[in-house]
Amino acid sequence: MEERRLGPVVGLGTWQTFGGDAALAREVVEAALAAGVDVFDSSPMYRGAEASLGAALAGRGRVATKIWAPSVEEGREQYRRQVEWFGRVEIEQIHNLVAWQEQLEWLEEERAAGRIGRLGVTHYASGAFDAMADALRTGRFDTVQLPYNPHEREVEEELLPLAAELGVAVIVMRPLAEGALVRRSVEPAALRELGVETWAQALLKWALSDERVDLVIPATSKAGRTAENAAAGEPPWFTPEQRALVEELAA
Ligand SMILES: NC(=O)c1ccc[n+]([C@@H]2O[C@H](COP(=O)([O-])OP(=O)(O)OC[C@H]3O[C@@H](n4cnc5c(N)ncnc54)[C@H](OP(=O)(O)O)[C@@H]3O)[C@@H](O)[C@H]2O)c1
Repeated sequence: MEERRLGPVVGLGTWQTFGGDAALAREVVEAALAAGVDVFDSSPMYRGAEASLGAALAGRGRVATKIWAPSVEEGREQYRRQVEWFGRVEIEQIHNLVAWQEQLEWLEEERAAGRIGRLGVTHYASGAFDAMADALRTGRFDTVQLPYNPHEREVEEELLPLAAELGVAVIVMRPLAEGALVRRSVEPAALRELGVETWAQALLKWALSDERVDLVIPATSKAGRTAENAAAGEPPWFTPEQRALVEELAA
């Protein structure tokens, strides 16, 4: 799989897939690792997913998780538990910008001490993108996580150009529009034109064909889908015409 600044370009999300189901997490994570996936995204918001992900990884892979807490005390407690589950957090993100100025100070100390690799910020809602841009302009973040798929392209206006200008690495959440975009059927002839086997791969490649994107993190509860998704991380990347075809098929 191609590697960019955060490692292999297809990771694994964990929102609403295995939650606290440790056996299912083990199955999905084993398959993902075997397919070359190395970055695993989670959050204290994901109902037990951090604990089951940590047990399944057993020290393998790189973890991107989040601090989602209104107070520094609670944020530090979330981090303490993450260290227990994962050993190390490679990418620590402030979830939905919650108390980001307060949390950032102590997180920067952790990064400076080498205990956290990179610091990031995330938001799923376009109404928060101006605030997310302001946070990036402080120059204190290494990564940004944002939604990007043919139905959600608002980030093309400001966030993607800004991330490129600042040298901030981009993680794409919802590359399949939370599954909504993969439910349609697409003609095999169109997939052949795109050089992919499945429509899910076309959507993942659509995001990765923008060179400002470092990582897509599709989530799945089906171990068998991890290899299908990981295969989308192999070049060649789409031409502008192929990207336009995906947009047409998704319309
Ligand atoms: N949604 C948000 O607002 C949000 C916010 C912050 C962060 N994130 C992070 O971003 C990650 C990705 O976003 P997401 O989980 O919301 O949405 P997503 O990855 O766009 O879509 C996940 C859905 O796609 C389905 N799927 C995955 N691979 C497939 C394939 N090859 N073929 C057909 N269906 C497939 C999954 O169903 P099956 O389980 O049946 O495979 C699941 O329902 C999250 O897991 C989380 O780590 C999300």
